[in-house]
Amino acid sequence: MKLILDTADTTAIRYYNDYLALDGVTTNPTIITKSGKPYVDVLKEIVEILDEDQALYVQAVSEDYEGIVEDAKWLSTLGKKNIYIKIPVTNEGLKAIKTVHKLGIKILATAIYSMDQAYLAMHAGADALAPYVNRMCYYGNGVDEVINMQTIIDNYGYNTEIVAASFKNASQVRELMLNGIGACTVPVDVMAQLFNNENTNNAVKEFTANWEKTYGKKTLR
Ligand code: G3P
Repeated sequence: MKLILDTADTTAIRYYNDYLALDGVTTNPTIITKSGKPYVDVLKEIVEILDEDQALYVQAVSEDYEGIVEDAKWLSTLGKKNIYIKIPVTNEGLKAIKTVHKLGIKILATAIYSMDQAYLAMHAGADALAPYVNRMCYYGNGVDEVINMQTIIDNYGYNTEIVAASFKNASQVRELMLNGIGACTVPVDVMAQLFNNENTNNAVKEFTANWEKTYGKKTLR
């Protein structure tokens, strides 16, 4: 499963990129505003941090068809090869997905709240789909809905990947991992839950203490 960080906090991106094999970074307009920086600056900084293979997912801000297509064209000039333009699956967004797909620009259809929207987006040419797992839980079982989306992809062989988004805890990620979902993009607090395990830290402290007691040092050499 691909592991993606859902933030525009460049300190967190640098940190997790240093420790983990991140496959990319997702942002959305709200996430970018939270950075407190001018959006062009923060996007360029993220482009600099990521290597060529790591994907950057950046969202169109305009709400109308023409504006979304223009945003997609502009974002494609940011200097990042592996970039996906996030397009929300509104009516205008679905129309834009068809056009942007024909332009050869990669698309992550986002703000997906139902299987129907996922189907319409993949059928329009979206390369990836971002269902909002936790937000769907307000209306039913968000995890199951994502698994159903994966079933549609598998049943018909659509060339699209699920990048599940909107997580509130690590157990939602675990359930998707168990069901073969292609990617999860997680916020910094959920990444911290996946990453740091106090039991492992304590086990290592015990190994080191025993080693030091016997050999008088904390290392091999
Ligand atoms: O990437 C989409 C995600 O940021 C939405 O998450 O926490 O606002 O539901 P949330």
